[in-house]
Amino acid sequence: MIGIGAGDPDYVTVQAISALNDTQVFFATDKGDTKDDLVALRRLICERFIEKPGYRFVELPDPKRAVDVPYEQAVNDWHAARARLWAQAIESELPDGATGSFLAWGDPSLYDSTLRILDRVADHVDFEFDVIPGITAIAALTARHRIPLNDIGEPVLITTGRRLRADGLSGAAVVMLDGDCSFRDCAPDTRIWWGAYLGTPDELLVTGTVGEVAEQITEIRAAARERHGWIMDIYLLRAAD
Ligand SMILES: C[S@@+](CC[C@H](N)C(=O)[O-])C[C@H]1O[C@@H](n2cnc3c(N)ncnc32)[C@H](O)[C@@H]1O
Repeated sequence: MIGIGAGDPDYVTVQAISALNDTQVFFATDKGDTKDDLVALRRLICERFIEKPGYRFVELPDPKRAVDVPYEQAVNDWHAARARLWAQAIESELPDGATGSFLAWGDPSLYDSTLRILDRVADHVDFEFDVIPGITAIAALTARHRIPLNDIGEPVLITTGRRLRADGLSGAAVVMLDGDCSFRDCAPDTRIWWGAYLGTPDELLVTGTVGEVAEQITEIRAAARERHGWIMDIYLLRAAD
């Protein structure tokens, strides 16, 4: 399980390069959605860093998630179905003693289900795995804004747009997976550091207070999403003292 960093091929670590070069089969779990740019970036990373060609990509089928059952059960069933399919693919595509890899955007531990599913794959097929950490979108965001993540001795919550809207903000929070510009619900004097397509040539950065920049971010975000057909953005919020 290799974390490849969250956008810039230069985020790929020396440890990841070594693991890429040890891999015979790359298992791809992309859902064939509009994020072709991201699939292309993964292939680019392999081409750039792997010295000996001869590796293969194997697409893993993605079972449909049920819509007529409660959300948690639907996700659970979906993970179980994926685990069965992945186990079959590992058995049929990976010769004994060979190494297969999954590439995770950023770091595999952060809002990524692959490790959870791999845990279940182990119920079906015998294999061992290691995890290579990667540079997260959070690290990319703070580096590009040149800011510390936390105030001195203070905690930071990592959350989603949906949970920010439900729970409100107290202290500092990093918000990911937010399609709805949920920062607009925060008090106007909340500080925000926003970034999209971090580490790529299309990178966008905005900072200010919610009162000053919420509208600007909303407009830039909508235009960029329209232009690219997809967007990945993340932001840090700090409530006023
Ligand atoms: C499914 S999560 C995966 C996070 C990833 N594992 C990581 O370590 O950053 C995807 C979310 O990460 C954030 N993200 C990932 N890459 C990003 C980038 N290059 N620029 C801005 N946000 C990014 C966005 O909030 C996006 O909705």
